[in-house]
Amino acid sequence: MNQNTWVLFDLDGTLTQSEEGIWNCAKHAAARMGLPEPDTATLRKFIGPPLIWSFRELLGLSPEDAEEAQRIYRERYNTVGLFENRVYPGIRCALRTLRKTGMHLGIVTGKPESPTRRILEHFGILGWMETVVCATDGHAEKDHLIRQALPADAGEAWMVGDRMFDVEGGRKAGIHTIGVTYGYGSEEELLNAGAERIAHTPREIMEILCPGEAPARGAFLSMEGLDGSGKGTQLERLTDTLDRWGYEVVHTREPGGTPIGEKIREILLDRENAGMTAQTEALLYAASRAQHVREKIRPAVAEGKVVLCDRFLDSSAAYQGGGRQLGVEQVLAINAPAVDGTLPDLTVYLDIDHRKSLQRRCAASEPDRMEMEAESFHARVEDGYHQLIAGNPERFAVVNAEGDRDEIAAQIAEKVLARLTGDEN
Ligand code: TYD
Repeated sequence: MNQNTWVLFDLDGTLTQSEEGIWNCAKHAAARMGLPEPDTATLRKFIGPPLIWSFRELLGLSPEDAEEAQRIYRERYNTVGLFENRVYPGIRCALRTLRKTGMHLGIVTGKPESPTRRILEHFGILGWMETVVCATDGHAEKDHLIRQALPADAGEAWMVGDRMFDVEGGRKAGIHTIGVTYGYGSEEELLNAGAERIAHTPREIMEILCPGEAPARGAFLSMEGLDGSGKGTQLERLTDTLDRWGYEVVHTREPGGTPIGEKIREILLDRENAGMTAQTEALLYAASRAQHVREKIRPAVAEGKVVLCDRFLDSSAAYQGGGRQLGVEQVLAINAPAVDGTLPDLTVYLDIDHRKSLQRRCAASEPDRMEMEAESFHARVEDGYHQLIAGNPERFAVVNAEGDRDEIAAQIAEKVLARLTGDEN
């Protein structure tokens, strides 16, 4: 049905949010030219017009100084600024869903070709585009670029963009238009330009173009490690990275993650429950998980989101199976009806010696019921994890968690993105 439908996207403000890089480069150029730091209102005006114009009109530079400022700006932009960029959350799922239905995708942008391709490549999106048409001299009209992007035998065609130029260009080229309001233009601007449809989120683009179509599947990731392995910090860092890459992240945890699960969590971590048997404990973790899988994890993955879960089944296998010595087999049997086949696509394990992690944990705040256990308990948990990793080398991404936080975050990001982007193609 969609075999010959083409959907053309503008880049800045539609697929990617580029202001961080643009502003940082403008500030850098201003500082090097001996000017005070431009205020936010001025920086905003840098998005869109030619740079020379901005340096002359917004910062009051002479023609010669504006040339020099532009050179300084570009030097930083081409190496660093280009990647100070984010893909709007939900864009990946929207593009993958359109492709799944057989639509052809393309880019039409006023940006020069080299940075456009490098940005798309960096985020692993270039391969999804069957045509990339960029302004050659910075002044090309959008309708001209759109005509250039469409093959002669194109059927239905759409232009999706955040500014009036995109909508007007699409109309002049005689194709359908969607104006997106999450970018740099307002809904009023887009409607005045004659936008046929308005999308307030990337998800709405998908709903307009392929109504009723199931979104491309998201992913289920978990992070595991001993208490004090630095999981909290690394989960936040990974959430930010995935968000920057255009994934819609659902950050959740176990035990907990749902209102019922959070109540179970309170029982589990309450220091007054010293008499809890190992079996009760294992069943309660499984009960929290049963609710979590059905109420939150599965629906989010089916909606195309990335679920990032702080602990999952492996924690039960390591803590109750290893730590409490119930045995991994029994714990997995207890959990079978809870997870019902739902397992993480990838599990990040923060590898740290149990003595070091416990020291870190106890220095931070009061330990809970689990953390008060003897060192031998934590040694068995660590051993349990190592056995799980040995048995599932494909599913685990193991990262040494004893070093520098930034370095650990970078390693996690690299492994997770490689897996996610690999699975998308
Ligand atoms: P939490 O405060 O979330 O610890 P952390 O920040 O280290 O993740 O408490 C969760 C505790 O519950 C933690 O000690 C590990 C334990 N746990 C199990 O024993 N089995 C399980 O299945 C899960 C999910 C957690």
